[in-house]
This record gives sequence, structure tokens and C-alpha cells, in this order.
Amino acid sequence: MASDESVVRGYASAVSPLTASLLKADSGDIGAGLRARSDYIPADIKVPFSRYFDPGFAALEKEQLWKKVWQFACREEDIPEIGDRVPYNVGDMSFVIVRSGRAQFRAFYNACLHRGTRLCDGPGSGETLRCPFHGWEWNPDGTLHNIPSRWDFAQVKSAAYALPEVKVGTWGGYIFINPDPGAAPLEESLGVLPEHFRACPAEERFTAFHIRKRVRANWKTTLEAFLEAYHVIETHSDALSFTGDASTQYDIWDDGKAHISRLITPLGIPSPHLGDRASVADAVNATYQVFAMGMPGVPVPKYDPDLPTSGRAQISQWRRKTLSTSLGRDFSSWSDAALVDTVQYFMFPNFCPWYGEGLPLVYQFLPYGTNPNESVMNIRLTAPLPSGGPRPPSARIVELDFDEPFSAKPEIGILSIIFDQDMSNLPRIQAGLRAAAPGHAHSTLGRYQEQRIRHFHQVLEKTLDCG
Ligand code: FES
Ligand SMILES: [Fe+2]
Repeated sequence: MASDESVVRGYASAVSPLTASLLKADSGDIGAGLRARSDYIPADIKVPFSRYFDPGFAALEKEQLWKKVWQFACREEDIPEIGDRVPYNVGDMSFVIVRSGRAQFRAFYNACLHRGTRLCDGPGSGETLRCPFHGWEWNPDGTLHNIPSRWDFAQVKSAAYALPEVKVGTWGGYIFINPDPGAAPLEESLGVLPEHFRACPAEERFTAFHIRKRVRANWKTTLEAFLEAYHVIETHSDALSFTGDASTQYDIWDDGKAHISRLITPLGIPSPHLGDRASVADAVNATYQVFAMGMPGVPVPKYDPDLPTSGRAQISQWRRKTLSTSLGRDFSSWSDAALVDTVQYFMFPNFCPWYGEGLPLVYQFLPYGTNPNESVMNIRLTAPLPSGGPRPPSARIVELDFDEPFSAKPEIGILSIIFDQDMSNLPRIQAGLRAAAPGHAHSTLGRYQEQRIRHFHQVLEKTLDCG
């Protein structure tokens, strides 16, 4: 992978340094993962807009991508007991993910072997998977359990009527599937993720909140809206006072098998766009307010310019204390970055696990049915397992339909405002993609800030063999 030294890697001001400088000045140990850098910058790529709405391209993605790639399907805590199951729908393909043993998971094509009925429509449990049409039943391991009127199906040999399976892999409490029987092990696709998440193990977290949002935009349109901080200046301008948008660091790790990227957007500093005289005190105080929203009743401190520590270190010191108290775990060794910043990883093609306690989210972007102009975005908020207690089951999924705003769910606080700002763009983007002038029906991507989108399309083109 070549680096490109001519690329300008972010924009800083006197009071808003680049992320790399903030990481160096961190009051804690940022650990090997956050220390890791990549100098790879993907080549320029002009993405034809038709790829976002052409049904032929969506069909190609189904055949060459979704049928062949390791993809995040659900979390282990979604199916806590043996026999528990959830559907995983990607476009018009559907799989049912089942806990078949204490630490064993299986994924089956979600279609009855009798006359094709979908076997699992939502979270369920039970000793067998039972079709609602005529009652054919399978055991959690996929073996045939029972056929009503068995005498009428002499041609059905039980061994040949086990539910067809697809490959399953797990990491960090995440369950992945791959419909390709010849696929390499999941580990090859995870790349640096296990190493980078060692200090903040995803398996020691659970899904505390889960929203499934239907979006009037292609799954790639939706995904790309969340891969860069470049849009903060226009879309989330009310966050500029405390967000180092242009200071964001982007990294890509790609060994040809695993395609991973990351952004680190620092909080607690003003946007570099606000200039050299922007207020650090305002940035720190606004960040306190943002974090305090999730902790009603907790006294909120103010920036103290007389302390020898930086504003970010002051925030993280407060976070260490408040999180230790509320979660009963020890955060004393955690870094400023892991407690304050937004650190988002991406694993091709559609999975974004976030790192640390700054914004502990998980994103997943999926095609919805066969309409390339629609998608689904799954958003989970994760929390550390309570100390000493059992792993809580996943939060119930909150469904948000196409026209339902996140603000209808006030329990996610300021995030609902931010998501609504993002969502308001998406149908407009999807409409504009279709209306572009013939000579300009392709994207023009920033060299640094939009490198993760370039990288995504580079990998997608290779995967679909359509470059
Ligand atoms: S279609 Fe499933 S039992 Fe008949
Ligand atoms: Fe956004």
C-alpha cells in the first residue's frame, strides 16, 4: 500500500490541535490500538451515482457481495438461551441465527423446506423452530424434529432435511455469518480489530439500546454519511463549539483480506474552523453538558483554567469518577481519548463498532428488500457488563419507520438530534444522485477526510469486479 505524502492530513488551529497531538498529550495510556497509525491514502476514485440506485448494481451486490462476505448478523446477548433465535435480513435474503448450545451458534436459511415459509420473523425462543404453516419442526442444531402427517412424506429422508446452514463466526460478542461455503475463516476479515479492542473488550459489553431505522436512501448512501467528520461543519454546526471535526484522524488497514478503517474525532476542543481564538472553556463546558445528559442528577463541573491539566484531561478525570461510580467498574487507567473522543472503526462492508466510552455505538447498514433506494440502519448503544452480575439480555429493538424521527425516542438524548440531522440529508442525497447532470453523475471525494469512502469503494469494486 502506497502512502501519499502530499496529502494534507487534517486542519488544526492554535487551540485545536490535530488528533495525533492530543493523543500524545493524553493524561492516560492510550494503548497500542489508539497509538497505531496508517499512512495509506487510497487513490482518487469517482463513484458513478448510478451505483446507488441501479437495480442491476444492487443485484450484483447481492450475488458478489452479500452472498460471499463475512457480515455482522447479531450479538450473542440477543439470543441468551439455547433455542433463542433472531432473523437477520439483508436485502431480500434472510437467515435465522440460533443459539444451539451454551456457546454455540448456527445460522440457517430462513425458509421452510416444505413450501418455503419464512421460519423466523422476529426474536423468538423454544425447543424447536416450528413453521407456522403446517408445523414442520427443526431442532436448534438444524436437524429435523418432526413432520406432521409423517406418513405422507415417505420421500423425505430426515438426514437430507436438516436446515441448510451458512458459516458462523464470532468475535467480541458479535455473531457474523457468511453464506459462502468456501469462505476463509472470519478471523481473516477482522484484521486489526481484535488487537485494537483488547483494552476495551467488546465481549464485556451488552446492547443497552437498539434502534432499527428504515431510511429512504441506498445502504451505501447511508453508510457513507457516517464515515467522515467533514459534514459536521454544515450538518451538525451546533456541535462545532466542542468538536474537533477537521482535527479528525483517519486510518486504514488493509492487507487484502481484512478491510478496516477508523476515525478519531476529538471532543472537548473547539472546531479548528472557529479559529485560533475560539474558546476552550466553552468547548470543555459544552462537552461536560453532553456527557451529563446521560447521567441525570450528577453535578456537572465547569472548566477550571487554573488547573495544570488540560480541559480534556479535566473532562476525562470527571468521567473516570462518574463512570466508576455508576457502573461499579474501575476506569482509573482509561485514557482521555477512550473516555471522551468518538472513535469509530469500520469493517467492510457495513459494520461499525465504536471504541471506548466516548460514544459506545455499533452501526450496521443493510439493503432493505430489493429497492436500492431504501436501506436499514441499526444503531446499538452498548454498556459495560455490570460488575459481578450476569450479562443482561439485549434491549428490545425500537423500530423507526421511514418518516419517524429519532426525536420521537427522547431516551437517547442529544443523539436523537444528531441522528435527525443526518437523516434529513439522506433522502435528499438519494434524490440528487438520480438528478445529476450526465457529465457530473459521480462523486468528488476529499483526499484526506473522505478517504474511508474511497477505500470502501475501492474494495467494493474489487469485490464486484466492476472497477
Ligand atoms: S411451509 Fe412450512 S410447514 Fe408447510
Ligand atoms: Fe453526522
